[in-house]
Amino acid sequence: MNGNRQTITVEASEVGIHPWRTNLNLQHHGLRQMQYGVRCGGGLAPSPHTVAFRYLAENFHLFDGSADGVFLLGQTLNQVKALPSELETKWMKQNPESPFIRYLSVLNSEVLMVNNAQAQKAVLQTKCYSFVKPGYWRRIVGEIAGIGILFTEGQEHRHQRKLLIPPFSFGNIKRLLPFFEQKARETSAIISKSLDEGKNIIDVSGLLSKTTLDIVGLAALGYELNTLSTSSPLAMSYEKIFECATPAQLLISFIHQYVPIRPFLPFKANRNYVNANAEVRRILREHIRQRKAEYRRGEIHGEKASRDLLTLMIEESQDAWSEDEMLGYLLNFMSAGHETTAGTMVWALYAMTLHPEVQERLRAEIKEKITSPNPSQSDLDSLEYFKNFTNEVLRFYPPAPRFPREAAEDLKIEGVVIPKGTAIVVAPAAPQFNPSIWGPTADKFDPDRWDNLPEAAKDPYAFQAFSTGPRICIGKSFALLEFKAVMTELIRQFKFENTGPVEPQRSGPSLRPLNGMRLKITRVSE
Ligand code: HEM
Repeated sequence: MNGNRQTITVEASEVGIHPWRTNLNLQHHGLRQMQYGVRCGGGLAPSPHTVAFRYLAENFHLFDGSADGVFLLGQTLNQVKALPSELETKWMKQNPESPFIRYLSVLNSEVLMVNNAQAQKAVLQTKCYSFVKPGYWRRIVGEIAGIGILFTEGQEHRHQRKLLIPPFSFGNIKRLLPFFEQKARETSAIISKSLDEGKNIIDVSGLLSKTTLDIVGLAALGYELNTLSTSSPLAMSYEKIFECATPAQLLISFIHQYVPIRPFLPFKANRNYVNANAEVRRILREHIRQRKAEYRRGEIHGEKASRDLLTLMIEESQDAWSEDEMLGYLLNFMSAGHETTAGTMVWALYAMTLHPEVQERLRAEIKEKITSPNPSQSDLDSLEYFKNFTNEVLRFYPPAPRFPREAAEDLKIEGVVIPKGTAIVVAPAAPQFNPSIWGPTADKFDPDRWDNLPEAAKDPYAFQAFSTGPRICIGKSFALLEFKAVMTELIRQFKFENTGPVEPQRSGPSLRPLNGMRLKITRVSE
């Protein structure tokens, strides 16, 4: 198949239905409106039918999730109303074996959700660089998380990844454990203080968001943000940026996907957001300049053991990276490494409240195996049940519910024709809740499943919480060690109960609870 755009114009009367249905109907049969320019109401151009029928014939087997879509908006309204992963799980269950699920989005543009493990492998591993991150995603996420490695593509991505591997190697991440433990203890001290004051209902979502921001500040910048105790300018700016749940912010983000209007809107919410982003960049630039100057003056001495990622990056590259490049990486780490990890902790606590027996087993294992207030790496590695629990939390509550791609060339994967420009969505819930992979209990939260996985679930592409392939999360080891350090401290000290059901926010790039998560906390000894 070549990538030439062709126009097919179909007279509504020819197919005997209302004009707008004509368009949808063709979409249902696999004709791409955007690629082939399908329009209703004109004359019939003969030759492109060959293309249409070929596309239809080749993709006929593809399961279609868009049956209950809305004219011109496809699944957009359903997606706004649905809980994260809800629609993706529903479509996957209607056809668990289909490599892709097709649905329609704004202006009836077609989207393919990657469904089975073989398709995950092709999109994320073998054909990874044949897919790129779409422009709208780069615009929305890039303005918070920077460009850096998150949004570079192809050869340039390979090159940057190679340079960033040493600072993110497990050997280096292990050395960050004292930072993680220090912040874990500060978090538990804040909870203790609140209990002493008689306040035992605590918003763990806000608290852990501060913990992970402090940790990433220390580990990435070597900078004590002190978000847990005071509020530094950097922390305050991030708080404003992540306050994206107001209707005004959501509307702006929605429109901004299609028309980059942000810089021109005079609303307060928008101005706050734009200013906070500018402030974050200003502060990070200051840090980069200062550290580069120290390096050039030979003022960075001693063991690499105690170094933060910024210093390691300057050393490893021998100061070859420009200020802009380093700013991109730091923005990536500060945002990619902050809310995702906090979200994982928050949903882990929630799962513990829903399954008190799991909470008890975790506490018993931690008490048995960890005796020091500063557990070592090997102490933490010895926690087998905790490891199962972590995997199950990431399977059941994938912190990044969907990440998009766009085909950069014409492809055929698992028999599905994917023309250049096709929108692709990777939703970890699709493989992670698939009963043909995890068995009939796929919908159940069960840490013990990890001791006895079905063969299909051992496939690395069945688990996508951190993605897989050349673009797998570079901070995976960082996040897992941080999670262990903070959670073991909290579980050792406190018992958690929920105060009612908690719903996640319905939109946003990470899985966050709507209106925070207030849990009832008591001391373990009580
Ligand atoms: C539980 C916590 C985390 C989860 C679930 C998570 C998940 C992910 C996922 C799914 C991706 C792939 C996104 C895509 O390809 O579109 C990704 C990429 C990335 N993550 Fe994470 N992440 C976590 C923590 C972190 C941390 C702590 C850092 C850094 C300190 C980090 C830095 C990055 C970066 C830089 C990328 C881009 C990698 C590349 O494109 O080569 N993440 N993460």
